[in-house]
Amino acid sequence: MQASQEVRRAVVPSLAKVNLDLRVLYKRSDGFHELRTIFQTLSLADKIAIEYAPVGKTKLSIAGNVDIPDNLILRAAEAVMRAAKAKGEVHFELDKKIPMGGGLGGGSSNAAAVLLALPVLLGKKIAAAKLHELAAGLGSDVPFFLYGGTALGLGRGTELYPLADSSPVRGLLAAPQVHVSTPDAYRALNRGPGGAAPAVFLNPAEWATQGVNDFEAPVYAQYPELQKLARRLKRVGAETVRMSGSGSSIFSLFSDAAAEAFAMQQLKEIHIHPVTFITRRQYQSLWWNCLKRHTLVKEWPPQSRYER
Ligand code: C5P
Repeated sequence: MQASQEVRRAVVPSLAKVNLDLRVLYKRSDGFHELRTIFQTLSLADKIAIEYAPVGKTKLSIAGNVDIPDNLILRAAEAVMRAAKAKGEVHFELDKKIPMGGGLGGGSSNAAAVLLALPVLLGKKIAAAKLHELAAGLGSDVPFFLYGGTALGLGRGTELYPLADSSPVRGLLAAPQVHVSTPDAYRALNRGPGGAAPAVFLNPAEWATQGVNDFEAPVYAQYPELQKLARRLKRVGAETVRMSGSGSSIFSLFSDAAAEAFAMQQLKEIHIHPVTFITRRQYQSLWWNCLKRHTLVKEWPPQSRYER
C-alpha cells in the first residue's frame, strides 16, 4: 500500500455493563431464553483505535493487549463492510480493560463500538434499524451498547426500552478470575417452555432493593467461591450485592463514599474496580466527542504498531 494513502483514524471507548435486574422467564422455541432485564453502562471501559484506508481489497486485522479467538470486533467489521458495500483495509488496536467472561458485556460492547464508529470512518450511513439488526446478529447484548445508559431489555435482550437515568450511582465491581460459560449457566437454570412461566414485571426505580439475578443461585452453586465473595461484600458493608449477567462479576453499592472506601481497604487482595453508572446522555456525548474528532493521518501503517 502506498505510504501517502489517506487513512482515517478514530479512538473510541467501549464501556462495560451490568444487569441491575435479570430474570430468565422460559426457554423459547428458537433455543434462546426470554428475558426481563435492566441494563446499565459503567465507567469501566476498553479503548479501541480504528484505522481505515480506502484501498482496493478488504483486509481486516487486529492487535492489542489480549488475543481473543474469533474476536467479535472482526465479525462486526465484516458486517459493516458488507452492509456499507465498502472496501479497504481496517486495522483495530484493542486496549482491553473489561475482565473477560465476567458478565460485563465486554465483547458485545466492542462489537457495538465497531458498528457505531466504522460507518463514520467509511463516510457511509447505515440506517439505525439496520445497525440494530446487525447488532442482534452478533449477540444478544450487542444492541444495548448502541444506546447505553439505563435500558429495559426484553425478548432475547435485544428489544430495548430506554429508562430514566438514576441519580449518580457509584459502587464497586469485583471481578474474580472465574470464567463462567453463559450457555452452561442457561442450561443450569433448566427453564421449561413459555406456557409454564408466570409474567414478571421489573421495577426499575427499585432495582437496588427489589432486583434479583436469576443466575446467582445456579452459578453460586457451581462456584461456591463466588457466593463467598458475595457474602464477604455484604459483611464489609455493601447494601446491595448483585452478580452481573451469568457472572462472575459482582457489583456492590454502599451507603456513602466512606463505607465504600472502608470496603476497598478490607478487600485489598481482590480485584476490585470502583465504577460509576454512565447515563445515556453521557454515553452519547462520549461517542459524539470521539467521532467528531476522528482524524486523517497520512502515514500507513502507523509506526506505533511495530513499536511494542
Ligand atoms: O446471543 P449470545 O451469543 O450472547 O448468546 C450466547 C448463548 O447464551 C446462546 O447461544 C444461548 O445459549 C444463551 N442465551 C440464551 N438466551 C438469551 C441470550 C443468550 O439462551 N436470551
